[in-house]
Amino acid sequence: MVTFTSHNADETAALGEEWGRAAQPGWVIGLSGDLGAGKTQLIKGFARGLGIAARIQSPTFALVNEHQDGRLPFAHIDLYRLDTPEQIIGAGLEEYFQRPDGITVVEWCERWPDFRHPSAASAGAGGFRRVHIEQTSDTDRQITYEDFGG
Ligand SMILES: Nc1ncnc2c1ncn2[C@@H]1O[C@H](COP(=O)(O)OP(=O)(O)OP(=O)(O)O)[C@@H](O)[C@H]1O
Ligand SMILES: [Mg+2]
Repeated sequence: MVTFTSHNADETAALGEEWGRAAQPGWVIGLSGDLGAGKTQLIKGFARGLGIAARIQSPTFALVNEHQDGRLPFAHIDLYRLDTPEQIIGAGLEEYFQRPDGITVVEWCERWPDFRHPSAASAGAGGFRRVHIEQTSDTDRQITYEDFGG
């Protein structure tokens, strides 16, 4: 487990950008953390690292935003609006966790039934990075992450 302390939004995005530059096909990244923790901020940087020029917004209503203009196909999922495991399974998002060719990033990943178990690390043909962001002050964030599989 790695802990990174971010002191402002740009530092969080810069961490994401580093990951985006290093990202390999099949990677799945699951993020948890309260509203406003900085999940989308990190993903904005990640997308930049992948070479995606499009504006990144939380796909709160669409559930998934896909971007094809980067180095790898990129899917950005947000489970915030889904309350029950049935809704989540019913939304048909499973395919995004198994595809070998692209990258999938999930906000509110703990709502995905399998993510409750560490063994859900099996999600992602190219490995799974579990990320948690904790707000420790107005501008400080403790970002912890751990890699599984891959
Ligand atoms: N160190 C920091 N890292 C990230 N964001 C920060 C930091 N300090 C302040 N912020 C601010 O906190 C907010 C984070 O918002 P963001 O949309 O990324 O959160 P989120 O975790 O995606 O929330 P939601 O669950 O609502 O989608 C932004 O307004 C950002 O400018
Ligand atoms: Mg968000």
